[in-house]
Amino acid sequence: MKTPIDLHADVAEVLVTEAAIQAKVLELGRQISDDYRGRDLTLVSVLKGSLPFMADLMRAIDVPVRIDLMEVSSYGGATTESSGLVRILKDLSASIAGEDVLLVEDIIDTGLTLNYLLRYLRGKNPASLRICTLLDKPARRLVEIPVDYTGFTIEDRFVVGYGLDYGELYRNLRFVGVLRPEVYSTGS
Ligand code: IMP
Repeated sequence: MKTPIDLHADVAEVLVTEAAIQAKVLELGRQISDDYRGRDLTLVSVLKGSLPFMADLMRAIDVPVRIDLMEVSSYGGATTESSGLVRILKDLSASIAGEDVLLVEDIIDTGLTLNYLLRYLRGKNPASLRICTLLDKPARRLVEIPVDYTGFTIEDRFVVGYGLDYGELYRNLRFVGVLRPEVYSTGS
């Protein structure tokens, strides 16, 4: 039988509190609304990690938005590493040709996933394409990514919560935190 995990006891440290996330989402929403005033915006987010951020951010934006969702997975690589080889599990459900598109991401780490997605989305001929990420880990970047809106720049640590997982768990934590080292070493 599997040992049940203890969601909160497994957390070693909270890096970004729930209150800080909510304040930042409102700030980003205001900034994005100002930048796109008088236009419609298509928000494209990438499942599953961006789900809470997308849900909160779209309600902080007060210009008309459409939303679309993609799901991608990396080929190979361990649970805490990205391989850069991306497979599209769920594609856009509508054309973005001629649309102003904002790609909503949970975290940019090596940048390999996003680099692939940017090339893919540019190929669909949007009028414009910008990037909004809640978290940025620049220390690990392997490809340069032009990020337009960043919530928090964090150090090089594997984080969970507010959508981010370890072994598909911990996404429902309301903050962003780091797990105890033994959780990462034993897996879930
Ligand atoms: P990249 O291709 O290395 O930039 O990785 C991007 C994806 O890897 C993110 O969208 C996350 O799904 C995952 N990822 C990267 N860093 C973390 C982390 O610290 N915690 C959880 N997932 C992460």
